Amino acid sequence: MNYLNCVESIIMYNSKIAGLGMYVPENKVSNHNLTHLMDTSDEWIKERTGIKERRHIKKGDGNSTAVMGVKAAKQAIERAKISSDDIELILFATLSPDYYFPGSGVLVQEMLSIKDCPAMDIRNQCSGFVYALATADQFIKSGMYKNVLVIGSENHSGGLDFSTRGRDVSVIFGDGAGAAVVSREVDNDKGILSSHLHSEGKHAEELSLIGPSTNRWVPEIIEANDPEDISYYPYMNGQFVFKNAVVRFEQVILEGLKKNNLSTEDIDLLIPHQANLRISQFVQRKFGLKDRQVYNNIEKYGNTTAASIPIALTEAWESGLINTGDKIVLAAFGSGFTWGSIILNWQ
Ligand code: COA
Repeated sequence: MNYLNCVESIIMYNSKIAGLGMYVPENKVSNHNLTHLMDTSDEWIKERTGIKERRHIKKGDGNSTAVMGVKAAKQAIERAKISSDDIELILFATLSPDYYFPGSGVLVQEMLSIKDCPAMDIRNQCSGFVYALATADQFIKSGMYKNVLVIGSENHSGGLDFSTRGRDVSVIFGDGAGAAVVSREVDNDKGILSSHLHSEGKHAEELSLIGPSTNRWVPEIIEANDPEDISYYPYMNGQFVFKNAVVRFEQVILEGLKKNNLSTEDIDLLIPHQANLRISQFVQRKFGLKDRQVYNNIEKYGNTTAASIPIALTEAWESGLINTGDKIVLAAFGSGFTWGSIILNWQ
């Protein structure tokens, strides 16, 4: 190793978000539309979740989890003013990959024609984007890569129970994708300042899709031929999830602020995972944050799981709500349970 290589290998870089993009399917599904499929109402959904409408992929519109991810990624790459050939790693966060295996990251590698680029799927559900961003940050900090493409994308609509039986889950989730190009930043005070990740697997089944899986193989399900077996639909213990979410959001945001000697007053914009408007409002009240300090767009898209933070971040940035020097806090909680936060000093 020559002197320059040696010096480079011990330098710790920071990483910054150099470009953001998003894509949602054109097909809008209002709460009213859902009342034709199940016993529900616009009032119930708005009051309990804040959601007015969500986007669903339409059969034949050409979208899939990877395809939507690519659309968001192309926008992020263009805004980062680099070419897709400059991407050295793809991190793809999703709970609804195109295939059981391989992951959707490799499909993005092919669709973007990035030669031999490594691709990795991150399976952390609603916290997926925060986990993926934290992973990108580590690869950049170590000096291994200069540009990492991070995607969060979900195709929920094809796998939800739109009968009254599944209404507590199916009204909440929507389809869409968001992406960020994460690039090397030489100023250690700029970009991602810290990331904080956690999990608690004892609650794995409180928000889960159990079958088909290796725990519940397809032949076993077919053989049982039990119409009551709906393990192929997501299950959510809504109130339990809610109670855990508000506690973990609070803890992990405070953990991030403490690490950076910041207080809640220093937050220029908190972008919580768009799980449920009532969860965001609870966190806002707890910290005494003003409306302008918290970004929500769940009313338009529902809960898009791993895509919700990058979609919200992209929209906030496009609206001019994010400026140089702003302290941005990203926070997520979801199935696993997993949760995490990222503190950014916007470059
Ligand atoms: N439309 C109309 N009624 C519905 C309904 C729907 N879509 N879904 C459930 N209900 C009914 C229930 O059947 C129940 O009826 P009952 O009182 O006759 O038994 C009633 O509404 C209340 O149900 P409950 O589950 O107690 O409602 P809730 O206030 O807890 O709200 C959630 C349900 C799912 C909205 C709420 O628990 C929640 O937001 N949890 C967190 C979910 C979340 O954020 N998930 C993502 C995590 S990342």
